[in-house]
Amino acid sequence: MVYIDNISEYEGREATLKGWVYNIRTSKKLVFIIVRDGTGLCQTIVAQDDVSDAVWQEATALQQESALEITGRVTADERSIGGYEMHVTALRTVSQAEEYPITPKEHGIEFLMEHRHLWLRSRKQWAAMRVRNTIIYAIHRFFQERGFIQMDAPIFTGNAAEGTTNLFETDYFDRKAYLTQSGQLYGEAMAMAHGKIYTFGPTFRAEKSKTRRHLTEFWMIEPEMAYYDLPMNMDLAEEMIAFIVAEVVERNRPELEVLERDVAALEQVKAPFPRISYTEAVQRLNSPEMQEKLDQMAADRVEEASALKAERESLDAEFGQAKKGRKFQIDRRRGEINARLDQIEEDLRNIPVWKKSALEKKWGEDFGGSDETLLTMDEHTPVLVHGYPAEVKAFYMKRDPENEKIALGVDMLAPEGYGEIIGGGQREEDLETLRQRLREHDLPEEQFRWYLDLRKYGSVPHSGFGLGLERTVSWLCGLKHVRETIPFPRMMGRLYP
Ligand code: 4AD
Ligand code: MG
Repeated sequence: MVYIDNISEYEGREATLKGWVYNIRTSKKLVFIIVRDGTGLCQTIVAQDDVSDAVWQEATALQQESALEITGRVTADERSIGGYEMHVTALRTVSQAEEYPITPKEHGIEFLMEHRHLWLRSRKQWAAMRVRNTIIYAIHRFFQERGFIQMDAPIFTGNAAEGTTNLFETDYFDRKAYLTQSGQLYGEAMAMAHGKIYTFGPTFRAEKSKTRRHLTEFWMIEPEMAYYDLPMNMDLAEEMIAFIVAEVVERNRPELEVLERDVAALEQVKAPFPRISYTEAVQRLNSPEMQEKLDQMAADRVEEASALKAERESLDAEFGQAKKGRKFQIDRRRGEINARLDQIEEDLRNIPVWKKSALEKKWGEDFGGSDETLLTMDEHTPVLVHGYPAEVKAFYMKRDPENEKIALGVDMLAPEGYGEIIGGGQREEDLETLRQRLREHDLPEEQFRWYLDLRKYGSVPHSGFGLGLERTVSWLCGLKHVRETIPFPRMMGRLYP
């Protein structure tokens, strides 16, 4: 079968594509059909003078998203989408589409989410899913090539790994079971059998927060390594992220272009990444320099907005006289400008809030989204923040032997405001200490008997982390909201489609 992504092999010859009508435009004696086949887009041209009446009738009757088989001679044309065109000789409608709800005009996000099953065919969504695929493949490659064993952790569990506040409870034959929040505890058991393992599976959090970073069902990758301490853990996390980013940059250029992603920013993501302690991070947030930087940011945004408004005015003035093609360009640019102005307006509303929150951040508090944005604002790479207050972290975290108040945990914060993509750390390996932690966290020891066994039979120092797949996709694609990074997102208010 011929696919659009290798149509160049058919240059000067006849080929048949099997796909769908992405877009159709009719002029007097020509029909222009942009065909999509899952691998890309190809412009095809049906000329009334060159085809039979039957083919012409069929071509003019097509609708957006009708399925078709289309045959013609392939020629190179650099102005065309994908660089090739097809001059049609034959065409067969496989199935005529009803009037398609998603049109090239703008739709609201709620409408698009209700039509997610169709929205997936649109270009940006298509591109994002391909980047997601590259990331998944890269993660498996990364770990497989380094001797890690992939394991599947259970989805029904009897115990909470990440606190009891956001558990999904289900009825399990008259007993309570929870949908897993993390495969980590099971990963620790497997690591003691295999040395280095990773999970790759769905995880669930009953997050009541409607932020752009939270899903109720998301995919997590959790490596766990015996005999790894915190610095080794951080080295691994850094190496993995640099690997994933390099793979996406290498394999997904066309997709990143569709997504209008700034590829230059991704190209700078090379190890080593900056590492700062939580305590330093708080000092940085509290500092007068941070206040100055935010003032500067506000001033820059105001200046940028006035330049954009001036540009928009001159485009408005030009529009009336412009030719059709130019009108299209102007419309597109106006769309970009408006989107950026909305973003600037949002930033300008946020900056005073950020300033206050940074200034007032106290040692012992967890970081919020804005803190994470500020801590990475000068960086091109992610930042590793380590040594969090034990109070805000999970029961299994090992404490710093020099300071009981500090947990040997690490978060990786992505640049450009994408926030925490990784959470992890070194695990408590001492039996009695762990028992004590369970009590402090009000967790029933009975459910953790098996986990405590791991500390009875050959306990060793060990570490691991969890990478959130959707947050990683959103960062690499430059998508603001995680709802566009998974085929069918599950969030507080969404279970359909
Ligand atoms: O920081 P978290 O909660 O860490 C754990 O679950 C550990 N057990 C991981 C480990 O050490 N093995 O979650 C890890 C990552 C976060 O950094 C974030 O990227 C992602 O999972 N994540 C979410 N992604 C989307 N929606 C949510 N509600 C998420 N909660 C966490
Ligand atoms: Mg976390």
